[in-house]
Amino acid sequence: MELIILPDAATASRSAADHLAALLIKKPTAVLGLATGSTPVALYRELIKKQRTEGLDFSGCSSFNLDEYVGLGPDHPASYRRFMQENLFAEINLPLSRVHIPDGLAKDLPAHCDAYEKSIRDAGGIDLQILGIGSDGHIGFNEPTSSLGSRTRLKTLTERTRADNARFFPNPEDVPHHVITMGIGTILEARSISLLAFGASKAAAIAAMVEGPITAMVPASILQTHPAVKVFLDDAAATEPSKIDYYRNVFAQKPSWQQW
Ligand code: F6R
Repeated sequence: MELIILPDAATASRSAADHLAALLIKKPTAVLGLATGSTPVALYRELIKKQRTEGLDFSGCSSFNLDEYVGLGPDHPASYRRFMQENLFAEINLPLSRVHIPDGLAKDLPAHCDAYEKSIRDAGGIDLQILGIGSDGHIGFNEPTSSLGSRTRLKTLTERTRADNARFFPNPEDVPHHVITMGIGTILEARSISLLAFGASKAAAIAAMVEGPITAMVPASILQTHPAVKVFLDDAAATEPSKIDYYRNVFAQKPSWQQW
C-alpha cells in the first residue's frame, strides 16, 4: 500500500484525480470502478474540472459502481444511481450506455448480482477501483465479518453504517437495511485501487486497514494483499498508524522516475 498523506481533503482529491487522469490518458478505454458517499465528491468535481479545462476524455470508458440500496429506484433522491448522475455523469462525456450500477429494484437479486459480475468480466475487468472506507472498516458495503472472498451479493447493513448514512435521508429510519454490493473478492480483482479517506472519524479504520491484522472484522485490511493500492489521506485521517513518519518519508523521497 502506498500512503499519500496531504494536508487537506481538497489537495488529496486533486492528487487522486491526477492519478485517475494519468490512467485515462494511457488507456482511454479504461474500466473505472466508482464509489459514492461524501468522500469521492471532491474527486468527481476535480474530474469534471479536468474534462472542462484539460479536455480529459471519458468517451471510451466504462464504469461499474460498487453498490446500491435495495428498494431505491434511480430517481430516489438517496439512490446511488441518482447520486452518480448528479455528482459526475451529468457533467462528463462518459456514455450512459457503459455506466453500470446495481439495480436496487431488481426482482431476482441473486440473478442480478451474477449478471453484474459477468458484465464486469465481459468489460475486461476493472482497471482502477475508487474506494471510500466506512468508520467500521467496510469497503463497498462489505460490513465486518463479510467473507474476504465474497462476490456481488445482497448484504444487510450494520446499525452503525445506517446511522453514518442517515444524513442522506429525511429520517434515520428511512435508511434501507439491505444493499447490493460488489464483494471483497470482486474488489480485489481490480488491477489497481485508490482508496480515499478524510477526517478524524476515519483515522482508526485507516490504522487498522494499513497496520492491523488481516481480518474479516476490518474488511479493508484485505487490501494489504493487493499489489497496487494507493491510499489518499488528509492529515486528520492519518494520525493513528504507528509508522506514519515512514509513510510520509516514502512519499517525500519518491524517485522522480516512479510516475503514477
Ligand atoms: C459507497 C461505499 C461505501 C463508502 C463508505 C464511506 O459506494 O461503497 O463503502 O465509501 O461508507 O462513506 P463516506 O464517504 O460517506 O464516509
